[in-house]
Amino acid sequence: MRVLLILPVLALPLALAACVERKAPTPTGAEDFASYCAGCHGASAKGDGPAAAGLSRRPADLTRISARNGGVFPGTRVMAKIWSYSGGPGATTPMPSFAPLLDGELVGYDGGDGISSPTPVRLVQVAEYLKSLQE
Ligand code: HEC
Repeated sequence: MRVLLILPVLALPLALAACVERKAPTPTGAEDFASYCAGCHGASAKGDGPAAAGLSRRPADLTRISARNGGVFPGTRVMAKIWSYSGGPGATTPMPSFAPLLDGELVGYDGGDGISSPTPVRLVQVAEYLKSLQE
């Protein structure tokens, strides 16, 4: 009789575990930066990643984007740069395309010009991360 009482108690967590979809959490901006950007731009974002030496152009120091722009973080320009990565033939930048960053939810991103555009959340997080690095 006791076994019959215990069985449902054991079955419940198993049933719940089967229902909960194991979805990987969306990486943070810092994590995506480490995965997709640091190879060229460096872990510190100063442009000294291990792959930088082999490039025709030096990766930009991403901690000084605001400093190069009169102290204002040019969010729209940064987003245009990282969203429309145009690697491939005829590209003017060695930056490759990072399709996984385009996956997922779209959220409003206002790069500072007052216009909010639906933008892939992981790109927004990377842009916010870059903004947080400005010296
Ligand atoms: C294959 C090497 C490479 C990778 C990977 C790379 N970049 Fe770059 N990036 C460059 C180079 C080289 C430049 C400078 C030339 C140019 O502006 O296109 C640059 C320029 C930039 C600029 C322009 C800076 C400015 O002041 O105008 C931004 C912003 C940027 N990268 C962000 C990123 C982000 C964010 C990632 C990751 C999601 C990334 N990059 C990944 C090579 C790379």
